Amino acid sequence: MKKLNVGLIGYGFMGRTHSNAFRKVNNFFDLPYQPVLKAICGRDENNAKAFAQKWGYESVETDWRKLIERADIDLIDIATPNDTHAEIAIAAARAGKMILCEKPLSMDGKQGEKMVKEIEKARVPNMVWYNYRRVPAVTLAKQLIDEGRLGRIFHYRAKFLQDWTISKDLPQGGAGLWRLDVKSAGSGVTGDLLAHCIDTAIWLNGSIGSVTAMTETFIKERKHNLTGKVEKVGIDDACAFLARFENGSLATFESTRYARGHKALYTFEINGENASIAWDLHDLHRLQYFDHRDEGKLRGWRSIHITDSDHPYMKHWWVPGLQIGYEHTFIHQVADFLAGLGAKKPMHPDFRDALETQYVCDAVLKSAKTGKWEKVPKSK
Ligand SMILES: NC(=O)c1ccc[n+]([C@@H]2O[C@H](COP(=O)([O-])OP(=O)(O)OC[C@H]3O[C@@H](n4cnc5c(N)ncnc54)[C@H](O)[C@@H]3O)[C@@H](O)[C@H]2O)c1
Repeated sequence: MKKLNVGLIGYGFMGRTHSNAFRKVNNFFDLPYQPVLKAICGRDENNAKAFAQKWGYESVETDWRKLIERADIDLIDIATPNDTHAEIAIAAARAGKMILCEKPLSMDGKQGEKMVKEIEKARVPNMVWYNYRRVPAVTLAKQLIDEGRLGRIFHYRAKFLQDWTISKDLPQGGAGLWRLDVKSAGSGVTGDLLAHCIDTAIWLNGSIGSVTAMTETFIKERKHNLTGKVEKVGIDDACAFLARFENGSLATFESTRYARGHKALYTFEINGENASIAWDLHDLHRLQYFDHRDEGKLRGWRSIHITDSDHPYMKHWWVPGLQIGYEHTFIHQVADFLAGLGAKKPMHPDFRDALETQYVCDAVLKSAKTGKWEKVPKSK
């Protein structure tokens, strides 16, 4: 196995999921590369040192520019808020580093285009952490669709529901709450949650041609943690949109952080002429499947427990019947990235794939303002 020296930027939620994936991937997958946790970068030196000790990073940097300059770093992993992705990714590409970047790719499509241009010019291996593609049940859904089992697809229905911003006393900005600050996040639920739904949808059902959307900001002003002042809230708290896919199917997407009782309820359902598929993140190891071609008296929804060795990724884990969970989607993503690197095959979703999702997000936010159907620009 060749060593691959990783420099991770950001030691928050995603910093932990990525570090866990880098540490475990070679225990379960036979791969041509082994990630080495070379350096963690965070602005607070003490926090970065504590993180390095906990996860086994060899060194600490407090400025990401220094990390990128280091000759002993092969891969830059970006796990920082959305407004930092572009500058870091472009600098990393110019320095010839491989790049893993958190989603959403950028603050908007225009910024995403600049990133794609630089990354493609530098020809560095790259991938964006749309990890839900690598839930084994979701990967199985992709296989079933690609095998043509659903036939012509009529409907795609996705939701991503949370309830953590209902209190008007919750401030915006700064650590933990940058998602509520439009200057750091770019948008609200559209870029944060619907971006996941859109990435999965494009992967499963092809490109989205046009959208019409509505958004709402329920709490109009919140105290800003960095300025101490009450400031206008610029993010969308909730978003619902209709979409037409290029294959002629119709879709509804909904996301909110105001659905009391739901923490991370990501669901989708796809209806085809022969069969339907449904999936639910809260029950992520199951895929619901209905096939109209089954014998009539036995026809019904099957709840497939995705734990058998012939299910995607599962032969690498325990024995049939035993489940895996959220953290494993990141391990699968690293495994596929390293395998692709060995085979010199491009890995997906790459920056250009993520730009397509960004364009859909832009069109959704534009439509919410204009009140009209908006076309999604082509990214490929
Ligand atoms: N793939 C997923 O399912 C998923 C889930 C959550 C978040 N995300 C994405 O991951 C990114 C990070 O989100 P998070 O939840 O980990 O946030 P977080 O707030 O938990 O962590 C962000 C980290 O970035 C650090 N940081 C901020 N600016 C920095 C800078 N200039 N230099 C170095 N470090 C800096 C912060 O100190 C913090 O450690 C976001 O883009 C978010 O959209 C993806």
